[in-house]
Amino acid sequence: ISLRPYNTFGIDVFSEYFVEVSSLEELKEAIQYGKEQNLSILFLNGGSNILFTKDWNGLVVKINLKGIEIVRETEDFVWVKVQAGENWHEFVQFTLAKNYGGLQNLSLIPGNAGTAPMQNIGAYGVEIKDLMTELTAMEISTGNLRVFSNADCQFGYRESVFKNELKNQFVLLDVTFQLSKRNHVLHTEYGAIQSELANMGCEKPTIQDVSRAVIQIRQSKLPDPNEIGNSGSFFKNPVISAQKFEEIKKNYPNISGYSSGDSVKVAAGWLIENAGWKGKQFGDAGVHEKQALVLVNYGNATGKEIYDLSQSIIDSIQFQYGITLEREVNII
Ligand code: EPU
Repeated sequence: ISLRPYNTFGIDVFSEYFVEVSSLEELKEAIQYGKEQNLSILFLNGGSNILFTKDWNGLVVKINLKGIEIVRETEDFVWVKVQAGENWHEFVQFTLAKNYGGLQNLSLIPGNAGTAPMQNIGAYGVEIKDLMTELTAMEISTGNLRVFSNADCQFGYRESVFKNELKNQFVLLDVTFQLSKRNHVLHTEYGAIQSELANMGCEKPTIQDVSRAVIQIRQSKLPDPNEIGNSGSFFKNPVISAQKFEEIKKNYPNISGYSSGDSVKVAAGWLIENAGWKGKQFGDAGVHEKQALVLVNYGNATGKEIYDLSQSIIDSIQFQYGITLEREVNII
């Protein structure tokens, strides 16, 4: 079947076998079937962080586990468990409707809850590692369930153990977050959020106001995958030494970056825009006109075309600034 509806880039590739699973038993059966038939298995969730450059010669298992559950509660906090196949943004909206605080800055991030810990999704000063207490995952080779604490996940900037040592070894089943019921902590230090809240006339913002501000900002510069295929930021923001940053700054005084200690996280979007790529289009593959960090599929681009464009950008950034960009999106 065509995987086009199952990846937000809207790449039209085919999978030999495809099954959606909505329970642990179905998941185990699918894996069993794949093993018996000797098929390579690809586990797909929201499909929002993946670029297919070729057909999948094997079995695609789409994780459709659903449900949101309150597992524990005190006067101040609530622990909410979400199944891997729940849409991330709908889950965030569910928590905000109950006035649970914590996830508001992560509004409107595409994808499902089960892939969020894979790459420690983050936006506007918050990452899920700040709120996740534990997750359950199934070891593919044995079918055993294992609970991972926050520390077990080895979270970093867009990184986790599941992208590194344990890559392709576990399927994430559910994720638990500790959220506040009162005395909510707001993260509004980002300039974009502050000006949006000011626009909205919010002097004492609530968690719901912060969510609305984030939604407004994202809608104003990030393409909606339902309209234009994309995977959010295609590259990570590279981290370089403060010394190298100062050197580059001599030639490019406007360069944008945030320092932390001895290193600086450079805005890759700035590097790419300043190298002249923003809004460029090559066939149906392009660089988004409002956010240069986002590559887009205007219709019928192939994964290979998007990939080749990303390689040209990497080469150009390397040549111009001596900085190596790393892809954030999972390439198949
Ligand atoms: N910038 C430009 N030109 C551009 C884009 C950005 O000059 O075309 C510069 C500007 O100076 C801007 C700065 O880059 O002030 C930062 O831009 P933005 O706030 O849009 O954030 P980002 O660093 O490009 C990161 C995340 C996003 C997240 C935003 C907001 C990564 C790889 N991306 O982008 O996450 O929403 O911050 O916190 O860290 C994603 O991972 O898919 C994603 C969208």
